[in-house]
Amino acid sequence: MPSVSEVEFSRRGLLAGSAATAVIVASPVGAAVTTPPKADAAPTMPVRFKVNGEKRELSLDPRTTLLDALREHLHLTGTKKGCDHGQCGACTVMVDGVRINSCLSLAVMHEGDEITTIEGLGTPDKLHPMQAAFIKHDGYQCGYCTPGQICSAVAVLDEIKRGIPSHAQGDLMTKPTATNVEMRERMSGNICRCGAYSNIAEAMAEVAGAKA
Ligand code: FES
Ligand code: FES
Repeated sequence: MPSVSEVEFSRRGLLAGSAATAVIVASPVGAAVTTPPKADAAPTMPVRFKVNGEKRELSLDPRTTLLDALREHLHLTGTKKGCDHGQCGACTVMVDGVRINSCLSLAVMHEGDEITTIEGLGTPDKLHPMQAAFIKHDGYQCGYCTPGQICSAVAVLDEIKRGIPSHAQGDLMTKPTATNVEMRERMSGNICRCGAYSNIAEAMAEVAGAKA
């Protein structure tokens, strides 16, 4: 059995050893702080798609959303960023004729796709019928949600025409029609904080009637 003095010696030795180890460990860490390692540049991926009929080729960080690719890389700022979380519809564009929230989709997933934004629907001289109807019926106030509303409205009428069912239908076996209830249900993902909903519905009804 060790004597008391031997135990004291061992304890002092252990503490001294620990302190020395701490100094040794501290040195390289301190040195690392003064010369931080360089972060590697983010890798990029090529993507080719058509936007409003024009071929576009980009090299993007694969985490780039379609919304950011359109706005920040192609400078098509008609498409708006509202929530950036798939909750407001301000970023709605059409991909191969189908509406999507571009904030929820990665740009590199759209290789070969045809993307239509508000800039591709019409021009100031030749408005798309839905753009003209929104103006006629005052379907906006501040206008921030409007590009998304119009892209969505165009796609909604096409969905109804193609017989795609919605939650508002009582009978899934009957072809949907462009009723007020049907259009409001399908447009429920497009939020308007100015509350222009009634006028948007009137604009859509006019275009749907003109098409019928
Ligand atoms: S910005 Fe995409 S849904 Fe709101
Ligand atoms: S017009 Fe202002 S948010 Fe819709």
